[in-house]
Amino acid sequence: MQFLENFSPELTIASPGRINFIGEHTDYNMGYVLPTAIGNTITFKLQKNGSETQCNIHSIGYDGFSLDLKNIAISKTEWENYVLGVLNEISKLTDKVKGFDCTIESNLPLGSGLSSSAAMECGLAYGLNKLFDLGLSKITIVELSQRAEHSYVGTQCGIMDQFASVMSKQGNVILLDCQSLQYQHIPIDINPYKIIMLNTKVSHNLASSEYNTRRKECEEGVVIMKKENPQINTLRDVTRKILEASKNQMSTTVYNRCSFIIDENKRVHKMVAAFKKNDLKEVGALLYEAHEGIRDLYEVSCPQSDFLVEFAKDNAMVLGARQTGGGFGGCTLNIVHETEVDNFRKTAEIAYKKEFDIDLEAFEVQPSGGTMVIQN
Ligand code: GLA
Repeated sequence: MQFLENFSPELTIASPGRINFIGEHTDYNMGYVLPTAIGNTITFKLQKNGSETQCNIHSIGYDGFSLDLKNIAISKTEWENYVLGVLNEISKLTDKVKGFDCTIESNLPLGSGLSSSAAMECGLAYGLNKLFDLGLSKITIVELSQRAEHSYVGTQCGIMDQFASVMSKQGNVILLDCQSLQYQHIPIDINPYKIIMLNTKVSHNLASSEYNTRRKECEEGVVIMKKENPQINTLRDVTRKILEASKNQMSTTVYNRCSFIIDENKRVHKMVAAFKKNDLKEVGALLYEAHEGIRDLYEVSCPQSDFLVEFAKDNAMVLGARQTGGGFGGCTLNIVHETEVDNFRKTAEIAYKKEFDIDLEAFEVQPSGGTMVIQN
């Protein structure tokens, strides 16, 4: 793109992906989650270009595109909608954004369940907030980014990813109540264990429509249970007793979805307690337990993720594993003893290649800080 010839960015922003220890699909059910940002980020370099409405975006490794702030509409090119959706949401809050040039570079594997979407949305919103002095709070950035995902990308996501991308603190996980948005940073030390991600390389393209279906199934469960229990508004309010009493009025699928969410919310609190006691065996056991629910009750796993979790179970130096993120592929999260990391990686790569003929990608992550300015 032409602007690249004279590009001298005023601002560089790093916006991270995230992992979630536990609490999957609980966010849009107004429950609890336990995510943290990781060191893999998307980097945005930005400059004002002096024009009123002309913006030029160049994504390194992808194409670029230009847009007019007066004519923002959904694009047929999927990734452009992250940019357009954010601009559309910001335009509802302020008219201070003017023409800008931007390059985007990612070291976050896309479509791998590490929330590259939220990193895109939040990084751009954060950058524009600084560049044009918009005065948006961090929580406004989180919420407008989530709305951008709903309206322009089409995934009716919860708030976890955007929240984790912006609000994380190095060395901590975030215990977030997705109903009140109250949160607590909880320091974690898993020494001598490491967090090893195994990327199935199964990209969750199907995920958006299936994701929205899961959300509807949960809502269906709430409607059924609300008849006898008018105090219920979301699955957050549903106890096991209420669910069992309504079991006969719902399909097995809806029952299973609700059942998973009730257990998963409990697992979040159990894992927080385990982290506080430094009981890493319990942390690991909860990961394995959660994966069973992800596979059998919520049905958002895939053979590749299941294979890698079973593979981890055969290794006594791995405390626990599960698929992380929205599902249908992406990464498994593994808690692996530091002395075993190399061997675990190598043996997993070999076994995975043999089973699926796919080159596994393994990498370590650490709880990291949220979206930040790295250069002014
Ligand atoms: C995706 C969504 C999140 C959350 C997870 C599942 O990452 O963006 O809001 O629902 O799936 O926990």
